[in-house]
Amino acid sequence: MTSSALNAASAVTADLARLIEALRAELGPQAVFAGAEVPVRNHNDYSGLPVSPPGGLVRPADTAGVALTLRRCAELGVSVVPQGGLTGLCGGARAGAQQLALSLERLVGIEEIDPASATMTVLAGTPLETVQQAAAEAGFFCPLDLGARGSCAIGGNLATNAGGNRVIRYGMARDMVLGLEVVLPDGAVITSLNKMIKNNAGFDLKHLFIGSEGTLGVITRVVLRLFPKPASTQLALCAVPDYAGVLALLDSARRRMGPLLSAFEVMWPAYWQFATTRVAGVRNPLQGDDRPHGAYVLVEALGTDEQQDAARFEAWLADLMEAGAVSNAAMAQSLADVKAFWAVRDATAELHTQLPQHLAFDVGLPVARMDDYVSRCRQALQARIPNACTLFYGHVGDGNLHIIVHQAGVAEQPKSLVDGIVYGLVREYGGTVSAEHGIGTLKRPWLGHARSPAEIALMQTLKQALDPRGVLNPGKVI
Ligand code: LAC
Ligand code: ZN
Repeated sequence: MTSSALNAASAVTADLARLIEALRAELGPQAVFAGAEVPVRNHNDYSGLPVSPPGGLVRPADTAGVALTLRRCAELGVSVVPQGGLTGLCGGARAGAQQLALSLERLVGIEEIDPASATMTVLAGTPLETVQQAAAEAGFFCPLDLGARGSCAIGGNLATNAGGNRVIRYGMARDMVLGLEVVLPDGAVITSLNKMIKNNAGFDLKHLFIGSEGTLGVITRVVLRLFPKPASTQLALCAVPDYAGVLALLDSARRRMGPLLSAFEVMWPAYWQFATTRVAGVRNPLQGDDRPHGAYVLVEALGTDEQQDAARFEAWLADLMEAGAVSNAAMAQSLADVKAFWAVRDATAELHTQLPQHLAFDVGLPVARMDDYVSRCRQALQARIPNACTLFYGHVGDGNLHIIVHQAGVAEQPKSLVDGIVYGLVREYGGTVSAEHGIGTLKRPWLGHARSPAEIALMQTLKQALDPRGVLNPGKVI
């Protein structure tokens, strides 16, 4: 290290120490932690990247505390990294030794449920599952749902524009928000707690912050749209002969289920094989059918009338079977069946025990070309990586494919080789390097595979305008 670099590094450390002292005086010692006092849970997210303890941690109790923190960070030029539930998969919430982590975990609670507007106003650090439960208790439904529901925070869900399994019907997290309160990098508070579905008075500023992964502002409050609680769940597991059959089933489901269609999850054969034979607690819903099929599809419809919906769903499945459009199908007959069917798809959460350190992807692709991509990608991976386990599955109705890659018997997974193959083909097919998990630091080198230079330049212009000192979550996304 040159002496000027050393000076710069120690200068930042001194500023961080001064910042921590100032925040202790203003927010109270119980809200501020330095160095070794920072709890281990704030050292990492779910990205699988190495542990990264922040130089300090602040846990403000309210929006004013968040604003004060950001103001002081901007004044002293210390960079600050917002943290929610820390379940992100791309490194967006990891803070470094010379950075301050800003945790929203004390900003929890439902402030209001407004039945006439069908909205909930909630603090950003509230866990998603708490939001879902509060909505249900009030007779409403919060359709945002993902595996990390018990740990992730609603503010983080919005900062990353989370997806999940019901996007086909309700959209991404972005589509469930009517208003936000955000603190800008200079500490200014923008309170925009709009409850109206229609509001065309100028720019819709909330969309600037949703999906920006904490680089443009810190979300402190959210107005969510609520939906009527569905009265019935219809769920089927369908085996189809090939990908043309997947597309035909998707088209048919859209036409026959209309707005009730709430999930369309596709599993390619290797994934199906793995989940039903190697993951503990998962059974094959197509009991007794061990024939290889071209693809497996979980189709869900959430309805308003149990009897009518079940009859309609069953008739639809019977027509498909009769026409030979599906090779086999099972319809869930109980809540236990619903759980068992979804367990095949949710087995992804258990893959790390069988495939430790596996590489995971959430690419987006044109739906029509997805299977073509899968074949090419699988072939390229298997040609370059001996003994590669490659599993494909995804939210096909949303154009979102997940890929799991694991090489057995190596100390380190061949990440850059696999990234190059997966993302190189994504670019060729006109897809995106992240459909739902975001960019963080993990995919930053690949942003140019999915966004044009002009798009990236505009992102940089916005970042520069809102955060000219570059203190808020630097090095993430762009
Ligand atoms: C899933 C998560 C990983 O769909 O996005 O399984
Ligand atoms: Zn997903």
